[in-house]
Formats: sequence, structure tokens, C-alpha cells
Amino acid sequence: FLNMELMYLQRTSPSATTTAESLHRNDFPNGFVFGTSSSSYQFEGAVKEGGRGPSIWDTASHIPGVIADNSTGDVTTDQYHRYKEDVELLVQLGVDAYRFSIAWSRIFPDGKGPIANKEGIAYYNRLIDALLENGIQPYVTLFHFDLPQAFQDSFGGWRSPLIVPLYVVYAETCFATFGDRVKNWATFNEPHLFAYKYYNYGCVVGNCKLGMNNMSWPYITMHHMLLSHAATFQVYKSKFQANQGGVIGIILDAQWYEPYSNSQEDIEAIERMQMFQVQWILDPIYFGKYPTIMQEQLGDLLPSLSPSESKALKGTVDFLGINHYTSHYTINQPNSSIPPSKPMYRDTKADTIDWLYIVPWGIQKMLNYIKVRYNNPTIYITENGVDEQHNNYSMSLEVLLQDQFRIKFHHDYLSYLIAAIRDGCDVRGYFTWSFLDNFEWEDGIEKRFGFYYVDYTQNNRRYPKASVKWFKQFLCQTSQSK
Ligand code: NOJ
Repeated sequence: FLNMELMYLQRTSPSATTTAESLHRNDFPNGFVFGTSSSSYQFEGAVKEGGRGPSIWDTASHIPGVIADNSTGDVTTDQYHRYKEDVELLVQLGVDAYRFSIAWSRIFPDGKGPIANKEGIAYYNRLIDALLENGIQPYVTLFHFDLPQAFQDSFGGWRSPLIVPLYVVYAETCFATFGDRVKNWATFNEPHLFAYKYYNYGCVVGNCKLGMNNMSWPYITMHHMLLSHAATFQVYKSKFQANQGGVIGIILDAQWYEPYSNSQEDIEAIERMQMFQVQWILDPIYFGKYPTIMQEQLGDLLPSLSPSESKALKGTVDFLGINHYTSHYTINQPNSSIPPSKPMYRDTKADTIDWLYIVPWGIQKMLNYIKVRYNNPTIYITENGVDEQHNNYSMSLEVLLQDQFRIKFHHDYLSYLIAAIRDGCDVRGYFTWSFLDNFEWEDGIEKRFGFYYVDYTQNNRRYPKASVKWFKQFLCQTSQSK
């Protein structure tokens, strides 16, 4: 599927201030970080090596029917063994930073501390050291979906408050062990998507593993993730930041919602979409409370924040990571029931049309929305990218290596990112998703988001796509070449 025009959402597009020809690295502020992203379960493989314990994703991916192409993360890109080669590929790509996550069950195979698994620690030490030796900064996410299975089995994982102190022990161990070299930490990746889709109503635990749904689970899950985030932030501030000098934040999935019409109802619907996506997390962090309309809609389904929890949460980020991919038109749904009778993935009174449209101007709108609502926080775009196949998995290697679609995608999103920065949004970095093709959760390895192609049939050999050359050229441009 290469008809780009069809995939581009055309209406109400503001004009970017930068055009195709004029995009240069030095249009970004000095010190702006360019990187690329990954995560442990999607990249590492070696799931039974180095003393690693199982995670909920090992369990889920082995249940027949859960993953579209029946693949698993057992091997995937095999970065665990190939990290040296991968660091060389990162050098060739020309990035300043590499974002990866630590697998909790490599550090504590059954989840619990305090005795950490030496081999797991040694792996991340090797990776971090190799990156730094090559001038690449490690950006580390502590939790990117792969909860130790032991916690799920023994007490229901994120649905129990027991998880909070256990998460803090894990985080603290990582700070103590890697924090002399890692200066940028994120507590959670995409808690909104995890709480709804990947943990409760999606394929991973809710439907497949336990075979039941409970309407309150996403909200309880999020509550415990937020409390873990707050406690971890306080530990980092009080015990580590002064010596280590790093920063700590949280990473959100933040797609833009555009009203389908100019009606007041549709405009209000987009606000509710943002409420159930970013405000759910950021209002507690910035204002110490859940959004009022969420409380009204959900009633008892939404846990309440006690005064001490609210106080502990307020102000607990040095930066926000934003994973931005797409925008959707949003229509008000006048007749939906509250509370909903079926699992609610988002606001019950708004609905969106389709998904994964390519809407470069959406990134500018999303960033301005956050700037206004949360008083211009420091932001890193921690993910942005595309699988150019659009569900057509018959493309040949030759075609996939000529990924002009990906180049246009990043070019256009970067153009609107520059526009957002000119609007005054405090954006400090941009990470592509993804470095390599990898295991794309329930879609499996067929989806290919990478700048490098991975041949899973030939010992995971990596091939640079055209986007590697393009990105490197973009990154090497200096003011003289402008
Ligand atoms: C967001 C997630 O953080 C990442 O794990 C996933 O692969 C990409 N989006 C693409 O869907």
C-alpha cells in the first residue's frame, strides 16, 4: 500500500513553516537530542537466558491466537546477543541517544528483590557501556509492559496495591546500579494503553489469560502505576539525583483528536478523548487529582486519590515523554450509556474514526494542547514512526528497503515538530520508533517499524533501509550546509 495521499488526513491542515526541501537539523534548538527507541520484550529475545524469569508477555505470546502471526518475543531481533553490532548500527545511523527498557524479570527473575540477578545486571551494564563508549546516551524506561509473571500469578499484578513497593525496589535497584551512567529515566511507557488494552481489556491478561473482564480494572491498574511513579520519583529525588544528576519522567501515548465537525458537541468530545487519554495521568501529576468529568462518568469505578497520595503525586516529573503516531476525527456519541455495558476503551461519549492515519500537523496540535494545559512542560518525543506496509505483508525485501514512505513520514512530522517548537513548546528531543524491525505486540513480527530491516529467517540479519541514509544525512547537516 503506497498511496500516501489516501493515508494522509487532509482536512483542516495548518501549514507547517518548514517545507520538504528546507528541513535541517539546525532548525532545532542547540542540544536537541535525536535518538531511536526500543523495548526489552520487543527486542531482546533470549527469554530463558541469563537467569531471566518469565513476564506476562512470555505467557500471552505463547497462547495460540493471541499474536496475529503466531510469533513470540522468544528470539525477535536477538539484541541480547547482538547488542555490540546494534551499537555499531546506531553509530551508523548517527543518533545521539538510544532508548531501551530494562526487563524487570532480568533484574529480579521472580519480580522481588532484594537479591538482583547478576547476569541480568551484567547485560545492561554491557549495553550501557557500549553505548557510552560510542558517544550514545542511554535513555532508560523502567516498565515497558513486561510485568514479571510471578506477580500476576501470586496477587494479580498491577491490580493489587502490593505491586507499589515492589516496583519501587526494582526502580531503586536500577538507579543504584546504572544511575552512575544513565541520566534519563522514565518510570512507565504508555500507561493509558497498557491499563486498557494490554493489561485488562486487551489480549494479554484480561481476555486471554484470565478470561474475564472487570470494568474497574483499568482504573485500579492506573492508580497503582501512578502511585508507583510518585514513590519512585521521590526516591530518585531524595537518594540519587543530587549525586547522579539525572532526570526522571513518564512516557505517554498521546494521539491528537480533531473534532469531526465544528459543532460544540464534537469539540467537547475531543476534550473528553484527551481526558481519558492524557489527563487521566497528567492531571494527577500536575494538579493532584483525576479529571472531574472522568470522576462523574466513572463514579466508583475510578479510585479516589487520598490527600497524601495527591500530595505525593503533584509535581512528579522532570520531563514528559510523548509517543505520538496519529490523529483521529472525533464525533460526539449522544446515546451511549454510562457506565458503559461493554469494556470501555475510551470515553463512552466520543468515538473516533479509523486508526493510524498519518497526520503530521497533529503533532503540532498535540504539543500545543499539552503546553497550554500543563504550563509548557519539558517534552521529549520518545516515539514517532510508521510501518509502511499497512497490513500488506507481501512486500519483498527489495521494496521494503526502499522505504520512501517512512522517510516522508518522518520528514513531515519533523516539519510540524519544528512548527510546535516555534510556537514555544519546550521540546528537547525526538526518538524514532523504531531502530530495528521488532516484535510488535499482538501484531507480531510481521509489522515492520524499523529503520533497519531484520531478516528473521536468516539469523536476524539486519539491513539498512533507505531511511537510515536519509536520517543520517539529516543529522549530519550543519549550519554551513544550509
Ligand atoms: C508504542 C509502544 O510503546 C511500542 O511498544 C510499540 O511497538 C509502538 N507504539 C508501535 O505500535
